[in-house]
Amino acid sequence: MRIGVLTGGGDCPGLNAIIRAVVKRGRTQLGHSMVGFKHGWRGVVDGITVDLSREDVRNILPLGGTILGTARFHPNEKNDGLAAVHETLRQEHVEGLICIGGDGTLAAAGAVAESGVRVVCVPKTIDNDVWGTDRSVGFDTAVEIATEAIDRVHTTAESHDRVMVVEVMGHHAGWIASCAGIAGGAEVIMIPEEPFDIEEVASYLRHRHRSYATSSIVVVAEGATPKNGTLDWVAPVGEHDALVPGAIGERVKQELEQRTGFETRVTVLGHVQRGGTPSAADRLLGSRFGVAAINAMDAGRSGVMTALRGDQVELVDIADVAGKLKTIPPEYRAVTNALT
Ligand code: F6P
Repeated sequence: MRIGVLTGGGDCPGLNAIIRAVVKRGRTQLGHSMVGFKHGWRGVVDGITVDLSREDVRNILPLGGTILGTARFHPNEKNDGLAAVHETLRQEHVEGLICIGGDGTLAAAGAVAESGVRVVCVPKTIDNDVWGTDRSVGFDTAVEIATEAIDRVHTTAESHDRVMVVEVMGHHAGWIASCAGIAGGAEVIMIPEEPFDIEEVASYLRHRHRSYATSSIVVVAEGATPKNGTLDWVAPVGEHDALVPGAIGERVKQELEQRTGFETRVTVLGHVQRGGTPSAADRLLGSRFGVAAINAMDAGRSGVMTALRGDQVELVDIADVAGKLKTIPPEYRAVTNALT
């Protein structure tokens, strides 16, 4: 059969590992023909395709980003979007779609599957917030990058006797903040799942610095919010519920500096967390998900997503996944509380 492949939403390390696995297994071993759609669902709606031959995926395993390009664009949110998807698939003789994406791409994939297209999805996002899978491709690399950054910030914090606020990504989930914060030995970790009281944080820092410390690292998830009534704060948001990089980090920095009197700096890691070469774990997970996705398509499955459950790759229904947010479990929060 002829199979289309797309990557949607924010990019992440490991996307090319998925694409490579889909094409290698799908073309060479299962004998399918493949076409790539440029810039996610936009390419499907506008009919913008690229070749996906065995040659096109050579040497892309360690490459960051996506050779297909990506975009935050969802056909189900536009009136004639689904009709345009059907028209492109008819013209390109595509009988099935492999959609690699986070929650937005998966929600669109669910709508496209319901409209009668054969769809298999692969979860990717540095945020690790896709419901139904223990891990999403890209998360491991982001945690590595953020942990290394926290290690580096530690030494300059110590040299200058400063409080360093490090803002990390994660949208409305605290996975990167918690994991990199624990791995990097941060003193305070602020996550969306547990609204913070800024005065409690300031008082903890005052106590630390009075008793034994001269510097502290405060990791703030970009989606962290204050407890009701503790701080006047409205998070600025853009299209697709986008958070403004640096907004909460800068505010936390200002508040802590003012409330403690300690010299404080803020580092916003931003898109550095999404760029560059994928970790071995993300290459491996991407390869496993890619093979599972093309096998599922070959077996006639539709409306499913590859998922890591324990150490097994399984298939879950997109309908059970879309629209749900996988937040960080209490056990991680307990470890944070035990160590900070
Ligand atoms: O979903 C991945 C993510 O990196 C989030 O952590 C972040 O909030 C958002 O994308 C940033 O999106 P953009 O690249 O559109 O600025």
